[in-house]
Amino acid sequence: MAFPKNFLWGGAVAANQCEGAYQEDGKGWSTQDVTPRGIVGPRTEEPTPDNMKLVGIDFYHRYQEDIKLFAEMGFKVFRTSIAWSRIFPKGDEEEPNEKGLKFYDDLFDECLRYGMEPLVTISHYETPLHLSKTYDGWVNRKMIGFYEKYVRVIFARYGSKVKYWLTFNEINSVLHQPFLSGGIFTEKEKLSPQDLYQAVHHEFVASALATKIAHEMMPEAKVGCMILSMPTYPLSPSPDDVIKVMESVHKNDFFGDVHVRGYYPGYMKRYFRENGIRIRMEPGDEEILKHTVDFVSFSYYMSVCDTADPAKQIQGQGNLMGGVPNPYLEASEWGWQIDPQGLRYVLNYYWDRYQKPLFIVENGLGAVDVPVERADGTKTVEDDYRIDYLRKHLLQVEEAIEDGVDVMGYTSWGCIDLVSASTAELKKRYGFIYVDRNDDGTGTLERYKKKSFYWYKDVIATNGEKLHE
Ligand code: BG6
Repeated sequence: MAFPKNFLWGGAVAANQCEGAYQEDGKGWSTQDVTPRGIVGPRTEEPTPDNMKLVGIDFYHRYQEDIKLFAEMGFKVFRTSIAWSRIFPKGDEEEPNEKGLKFYDDLFDECLRYGMEPLVTISHYETPLHLSKTYDGWVNRKMIGFYEKYVRVIFARYGSKVKYWLTFNEINSVLHQPFLSGGIFTEKEKLSPQDLYQAVHHEFVASALATKIAHEMMPEAKVGCMILSMPTYPLSPSPDDVIKVMESVHKNDFFGDVHVRGYYPGYMKRYFRENGIRIRMEPGDEEILKHTVDFVSFSYYMSVCDTADPAKQIQGQGNLMGGVPNPYLEASEWGWQIDPQGLRYVLNYYWDRYQKPLFIVENGLGAVDVPVERADGTKTVEDDYRIDYLRKHLLQVEEAIEDGVDVMGYTSWGCIDLVSASTAELKKRYGFIYVDRNDDGTGTLERYKKKSFYWYKDVIATNGEKLHE
C-alpha cells in the first residue's frame, strides 16, 4: 500500500472565506472586507452587503457542527488560517484582542477533541486593512515587526495545540496579486518590479524570522512555506520555448529556494542585475534567511504552458497566476485546466529539488453543484465529477509516493463549500459538504453531505485503497 500509515488526510479552508462575523468580538477590517468581487472587481471604501465574505458560511458560529462532520469523514488534519485582524484588529497596536484569541483556542480544542491536528496558515490573504492603508502592506519594512509581534502572540497561545504552521499562503502570488496577497494598497499598475521584489524580501525575512521563533518557542513545531504550484510545460520542443519555461519556472522556484536553502539564488541575482532591481537588505537579513523551513507545502490545481513566441502568448483563464493554455487538457467550468499527472510531476520536482517532506495543502475542483432530494426528504449533491477529479489526483499522489517522494499529507481545498478567493462567489463550490447559501445572500446556511463526503470517508478509512475501486 503506497500511502504511509501516518499519512495526514484532511481538508483545508481559510478564515476569510468561511468564518464571516467580519466585525464580531472586536475583529478589525481586513483587505477581504473591501473586495466584494475578489480579484476581478474594484475594492470598496468600506464593507458592502454584497460581499459574501462578511457572512461567509458562518463558520465562526457553526464550527462545532462542521468539525464534527470533518471528524465523521475521518480527517486526521484540518487546515485553517488565523484571521490576523481578529488578533490585532488594526495590526499595529500593542495588545492583542482577547476575544479573537479565545475563538481560535476553542476551534483548535474542538479539532483536538476528535484527534485532528490543526494545520495553521498564519497569513492567508487577509492583511488587516489598517496595515494596508497606513503602511502599504508588505512593501513597507515595518510589516516585519507587526508580523513578528503577531506570531509571538499566537505561538505563545497555541504552541501546545498546534504543531504544523505555514507562514504565508501562496507567497509567490504577491507578484501577481499585490493587494490580495501582500496587502499592498498601491494599485498594481503603479508598482514597479523593484517595489514588488522588495515586498517579497520583507515577506522572506518575516517568514524566516517566524520559523526561527517557532523553533525557539515550540521545539516540536514544524514550519512550512506555502507555494502556489503550477507546473509550466514548454508549448513546443523548441529550445527557445524550453529556456523560456526555465526562466519562468525560476521566478517561482525563487520562493521555495529561499525558504529551503536560506539564500538568494544566482538566477535571481542575474535577473535583478539586468533589470536594475536592488533589494535593500539590512544587516542581519541574510543571517535570518538561514532559518529554513521543515517542510514544503503547496497548492495544486492546474498546469500551464509557456512559449517564447509572442504570437502564441495567449493568457488562458486560471488561478491567480494563469499562463498559456495546454492544447491537450480540458478545463473546469472556470477555465482552470485539469491535469492530474501535473501533481505527480510537481511532487517529484520539489522532492528532487529540496529533499524536504512535502504537503499538498490545497487541491480540488470548483464546480456548480445542484442539490437533489433523497427519498427520505434529506438533500445531497451527486458530485461524481468531483469524485472523479479527486480520485485522479490522489492516484497521482500515490504514484509519486511510489517514486520515492516523501509526502506528509493531503488537505483537499474547501472541504466545506466556501466563498471563492478569486471571484468571491459561493456558487463555485469545492466541498464534500454543501452549504445552503447563494450569491444573492439567500439560503438557510444548512449543511448537507454530498456523495463525495461518503467517498472521501472511505478513501481515508482504507488509507487510499478505495481509489482503486
Ligand atoms: C488558492 C487560495 O489560490 O486557491 C485559496 O489559496 C483559494 O484561498 C483557492 O480559494 C481556490 O481558488 P478560488 O478562486 O477558486 O477560490
